[in-house]
Amino acid sequence: MNPGRNRKSGMRLRGPARMAVLVVGTVAILFVGVKIFTATKSKVTSSDDGQMMAAAQSLIKGDQIRNPRGDVQKEVQLIYRPGGEAVESDKGNAGHAGNMIRKYEEEESDLREDKAGSLHKAHPESKKADSDQGYEAEDNKGLPDIKMSRLSALGDKKAGLSQQGDEAFQQQPIQQNMDVAGVFNEPAIPPVAQVPEWALDVQRLAASTIIAKPPTLPFIPPAKLVHLDLKGAPPKISYFKQMFPLYHKLGATGLLIEYEDMFPYAGELQDLAAGNAYTPDDIKGIVNLARENQLEIIPLIQTFGHMEFVLKYEKYIAYRENPKTPQAICPRMPFSMKLIQGMLDQVIAMHPGIRYLHIGSDEVYHLGECPTCKQYMAKGNLTKEDLFMEHIVKVASYVRTEHRLTPIMWDDMYRHIQSEVFLKYKIGDLVEPMVWAYHPNLTQFLHAGIWDQYAKVFKKVWVASSFKGATGIDQYVTNITHHLENHLSWLQIMTAYKSAFSFQGIALTGWQRYDHFAVLCELLPVATPSLALCLQTVVNGGIDPNIVNRVSNLLGFATPINITLGPDRPLPESAPHFPGGDVYHEAQRLYRLDAWAHGFEHLGNFLGFLTPYQLRRNFSSVSSLEAGLRQYAPLVDALKAARDDAAEALWGVYDGHTVAEWLEQRITATLDRLHAMKRSADSLIARRTWPRRPLDARPPLQ
Ligand SMILES: *[C@@H]1O[C@H](CO)[C@@H](O)[C@H](O)[C@H]1NC(C)=O
Ligand SMILES: *[C@@H]1O[C@H](CO)[C@@H](O)[C@H](O)[C@H]1NC(C)=O
Ligand SMILES: *[C@@H]1O[C@H](CO)[C@@H](O)[C@H](O)[C@H]1NC(C)=O
Ligand SMILES: *[C@@H]1O[C@H](CO)[C@@H](O)[C@H](O)[C@H]1NC(C)=O
Ligand SMILES: *[C@@H]1O[C@H](CO)[C@@H](O)[C@H](O)[C@H]1NC(C)=O
Repeated sequence: MNPGRNRKSGMRLRGPARMAVLVVGTVAILFVGVKIFTATKSKVTSSDDGQMMAAAQSLIKGDQIRNPRGDVQKEVQLIYRPGGEAVESDKGNAGHAGNMIRKYEEEESDLREDKAGSLHKAHPESKKADSDQGYEAEDNKGLPDIKMSRLSALGDKKAGLSQQGDEAFQQQPIQQNMDVAGVFNEPAIPPVAQVPEWALDVQRLAASTIIAKPPTLPFIPPAKLVHLDLKGAPPKISYFKQMFPLYHKLGATGLLIEYEDMFPYAGELQDLAAGNAYTPDDIKGIVNLARENQLEIIPLIQTFGHMEFVLKYEKYIAYRENPKTPQAICPRMPFSMKLIQGMLDQVIAMHPGIRYLHIGSDEVYHLGECPTCKQYMAKGNLTKEDLFMEHIVKVASYVRTEHRLTPIMWDDMYRHIQSEVFLKYKIGDLVEPMVWAYHPNLTQFLHAGIWDQYAKVFKKVWVASSFKGATGIDQYVTNITHHLENHLSWLQIMTAYKSAFSFQGIALTGWQRYDHFAVLCELLPVATPSLALCLQTVVNGGIDPNIVNRVSNLLGFATPINITLGPDRPLPESAPHFPGGDVYHEAQRLYRLDAWAHGFEHLGNFLGFLTPYQLRRNFSSVSSLEAGLRQYAPLVDALKAARDDAAEALWGVYDGHTVAEWLEQRITATLDRLHAMKRSADSLIARRTWPRRPLDARPPLQ
């Protein structure tokens, strides 16, 4: 695939340096494992402190390498405070605005110089899910269940499977290049007894999601779209060049492309394009690559809510429904429609031959708020629903009549609207809704009432699942289990309602940011294994260990992908071979280091001796702080090494702006936080005598 792109194997170091990294890595992994283990405990007493320090010291010295793992766990568990659960909740806590790598390094070297003198001064379930909590399970009956064993029921042709060559398949060497056409013709299903240990996770998943009943053939939607959310972080065209063939191979039939500020808007609209937007030639490149790989493009343009990238500018303040926020456009201003038409015209012009256009329109948080709209509603005795519908009719009609395209739109705003309102506006003849839901259990999440309602209005319906960017606003590694469950659930829903609707296709969404202003969540390369597994789940009507095995081979994993997210297993020596596999690898590495950093920050040594109270009064335990700080250097070194390697990997996929953003949010912010702790601790450590209690009431911080 990408010859000449030599895998770093995550380690460019040699000899002792390499060993040091290994030691540190192992310590990190052990720490994390124990963190999770101890999260269930409820109390650590102060008498543990001595042991804590001893354990910390021995760990840092690398003693644990010679110990059996069990012993180390026993030791280390003392180091961890209970209630340190939720590594996630602390992640991305970038409160200390980091200022890019250089700044940090300057400070670091300052610190090193200081040292000579020995004394120093001192981030919803998913947004989508959240916005949707009104839907409770009312009717879970009548859903057919899709058996995991449907693969055989499906027949070989459909799933592209044959029943021969199990052995050969299992022993198949890792694919070293991406040119593995027909990998999905690789055979099948090992007898149950031979199912390897790792496969049990997948089987459990399948079993928990799919209740055995007489087998129903799953409904497999004709279109399978990969959603490319490009908001403020454009992957290189050379990356797409490597990925589009892979998407095709995995069974994708199209791309739902959401350029947002990455489209080269021109003329009056040129402000809408970010400074690092694609050029018209880039768009041509994308269009050609898609065509070469038989991927139908459906552009997505927000035309109602989520127009932050447009309305954030001063010149568009008057277009806002609520002048305080650029979230939604006012549908009643005469110039609003002109702006939207301009955007549609430009994007459509650069995508010759398209059949569909997605007009977005989800999460319109501001509706009927501005004086113009209020007045209009009052005059015509109209509701906000009327206001919403009128705007949709205008935009969708424009797309249909002026451009002869079929408009698709997100469905969420429809979920509370009565079918009479739809009928009044003849919405069913105008647009095809795309019902999105990223929850792992959709019978719980989208109640049957919604489907009954839609069935009265729409014949053709799309659905949208998610393969990333839906489980945490600052999530940077993907929870594959979550997304697989979501896809299995969608298969169930579509199978249940296949006679009520013509399901046109499924868009596998991969959110890059929750909105224009938000941080980056999982990057495309990081979520490629999730995408591949989710796509194959749709294509095959289910998931089983063989599919995981085949996908793992195709993506060049040395061992089968573990669908369970957890920082507690060793990081593989080398990155998987798929394009961007090194980015995936670096994110996994950081996930482990972050768990270590979290553990460090929550050491009893700091929780007990490095509080604002103590800092204000310069009153703390030198030995406790010194013991805690022993982990500082190895942790910081490991994070810096990870940052360097991540930078190099990210450069293969993204531009410098994106690389810098990710590094600052994900790594430099952590380093800054650790650095601040170190400075504070050092300043407390410098003291040699302490005052009599009681201490001052509340002296100012130095
Ligand atoms: C998969 O990963 C999880 C979380 O790290 C771990 O608990 C589990 O043992 C792993 N499964 C296998 C089979 O390696
Ligand atoms: C999904 O939710 C429904 C309703 O709460 C429940 O009956 C069903 O067992 C759940 N399915 C799974 C796989 O958890
Ligand atoms: C306004 O519309 C509501 C229904 O939407 C209706 O019940 C009411 O009678 C109408 N009022 C007037 C003044 O037309
Ligand atoms: C991953 O998702 C599954 C299914 O939603 C959930 O049960 C599990 O807790 C998640 N794991 C992590 C580490 O967030
Ligand atoms: C604490 O006292 C030491 C020694 O006098 C001094 O160097 C340091 O700056 C002080 N730290 C704080 C936080 O006041």
